[in-house]
Amino acid sequence: MSNGVNDVNTKPLNECYAEILSDYLEHGNETALASGYEAARRALLDGCGVIELAVIHHEALRRLNAKQQLTNELLEKAGDFFSECLSPFEMSHRGAQEGTRALRHLNEVLEAELKRIAHALHDEAGQLLASVHIAIAEVVENLPPHTRDRFDGIERLLRQIEFELRGLSHELRPTVLDNLGLLPALEFLAEKVAKRTGISVSVEGKTQQRLPPAVETALYRIVQEALNNVAKHARAASVKIRLASAAQKVTCTVQDDGIGFVPQGEPGSEGLGLMGIRERLSALEGTLRVDTKPGHGTVIVAEIPLKGG
Ligand SMILES: Nc1ncnc2c1ncn2[C@@H]1O[C@H](COP(=O)(O)OP(=O)(O)O)[C@@H](O)[C@H]1O
Ligand SMILES: [Mg+2]
Repeated sequence: MSNGVNDVNTKPLNECYAEILSDYLEHGNETALASGYEAARRALLDGCGVIELAVIHHEALRRLNAKQQLTNELLEKAGDFFSECLSPFEMSHRGAQEGTRALRHLNEVLEAELKRIAHALHDEAGQLLASVHIAIAEVVENLPPHTRDRFDGIERLLRQIEFELRGLSHELRPTVLDNLGLLPALEFLAEKVAKRTGISVSVEGKTQQRLPPAVETALYRIVQEALNNVAKHARAASVKIRLASAAQKVTCTVQDDGIGFVPQGEPGSEGLGLMGIRERLSALEGTLRVDTKPGHGTVIVAEIPLKGG
């Protein structure tokens, strides 16, 4: 009987699997085991899932059993064969888990770096500017009164720079998020976006216990990107942000009354913003739903499970 790895390329998986399994049960050889592993590895690459493989195994076993009653010893061997075929799936699962961990770590590193830059902007640049104010005041003191006015303009520009730097540092990493939590930070963000864009932005939700820092940061960044999208693409008059947290999960919704759009079929084929949202969520085992169609506004729903809730 053929158990060749080459058949794996041409035959349907169930036929191929049944042949290799039968060969293994008959001869118990390492080659059949290796072929089973290879067939499963290819099936995985082709998008086959664990349940599908289990069904194929079960069916192959049922047919073999119908031909000749399988002894307990053979059933045990079939179990070993199935375990070997599951190992590519196990490895892929572990790889995905590692990927999620790496993504979460990357987000934490990125967020810490943003915090550092925000503090540097706020504190260090702020202090330098304060020294410039003092130096100017000293210079002005020694000048004849009629030349002092020219420094007023410079002072005004300096204050504008301070204002912009402070705004930028808050936007990079709002201290209110660390100090007061997600809901106040979203209210703060909503106010700024409303002022900047003229869109009415409301925030609903109950203030309750603080959420885990990674969840708060992720949801803040997600709402920030969703609001950027509303401002850039939606031509909306109003946006509602809703935050609801229960013991098991937290849900955040951003709904606008803008022009809507045709969502891309494949999650990977959309823009960088939505992809970034999905990545942030998948690092926390969360999910994203985008409900939209042209002329009907857009709703994005981000959901994150809470561990030990
Ligand atoms: N709220 C929205 N209203 C209308 N269109 C949107 C909205 N959000 C996203 N889109 C559409 O989806 C596309 C992808 O968004 P995104 O992934 O954030 O990428 P980008 O904003 O860089 O274009 C946008 O170009 C836009 O066409
Ligand atoms: Mg965007």
